[in-house]
Amino acid sequence: MIQIKSAAEVEKMRVAGLLVGRTLQMLAGCVRAGVSTAELDALAEAFIRDHGGLPSFKGYLGYPASICASVDDEVVHGIPSRRLLVDGEIISIDCGAIVDGWHGDAAITVAVGSVRPELARLMEVTEAAMWRGIGAARLSGRLTDVSHAVESYVRSQGSYGVVEEYVGHGIGTEMHQDPPLPNYGRPGRGPRLRKGLVLACEPMVTLGDRHTHVLADSWTVCTDDGLPAAHFEHTFTLTDSGPWALTAVDGGRAGLASVGAPCGAPEVDRAE
Ligand code: MF3
Ligand code: CO
Repeated sequence: MIQIKSAAEVEKMRVAGLLVGRTLQMLAGCVRAGVSTAELDALAEAFIRDHGGLPSFKGYLGYPASICASVDDEVVHGIPSRRLLVDGEIISIDCGAIVDGWHGDAAITVAVGSVRPELARLMEVTEAAMWRGIGAARLSGRLTDVSHAVESYVRSQGSYGVVEEYVGHGIGTEMHQDPPLPNYGRPGRGPRLRKGLVLACEPMVTLGDRHTHVLADSWTVCTDDGLPAAHFEHTFTLTDSGPWALTAVDGGRAGLASVGAPCGAPEVDRAE
């Protein structure tokens, strides 16, 4: 069942989303060679709790940490560990928080030091695909307009893989709600996009083919061919003037502008 949020509930989701966005911003500034993913996790948990939130991942289906930290060929759900980051790697950091019962969920992929140009490009394509997807969302449009925009942009940029086993989702008083939001497929299908719908759009794009497997830790998702993957995610909703990225510190203004889409973030953001 799709949970439709009131304007007041969307405001609460903005508070949670902003905390997630600021946590990721803080973590991005801490990524460098020699830092462990467990350190990043500890920083994230402290930041979330210090700002009145709860880390939503911790304990979710038994997940042991507050972030997912997925390095290079790890696509998503990497468990933080004492492993140290190395120059030239890329790390995807996925983070969720609950404030006052409402969830935010977002992810970024960050370079450790300087990375090969093809990895920098992979990250750019994945982030732009996310913004294309969010930017394709229109009131009275349909869910898979987002899916189609993500996939067609990735395909237009080269022979990347678009992961199919993991998808975006509705989000609200639970992290994962209906409807599932695939990162591929034909436009014009699925539920109508309407006010009060809140979705997480989260493309996972690979440098090689799209197939993945789960490691023996039962969480870490890796590419079958061992090539790197990137992952970006924002929680967003729709307003009369366009999409509003609730987990983006700027509400999505810059990202949506970069793909020529309108942004529906309110002029006065009450959560800021
Ligand atoms: N944030 C992920 C998603 O986007 C889920 C993380 S799984 C967890 O759906 F177990 F780590 F919480
Ligand atoms: Co998500």
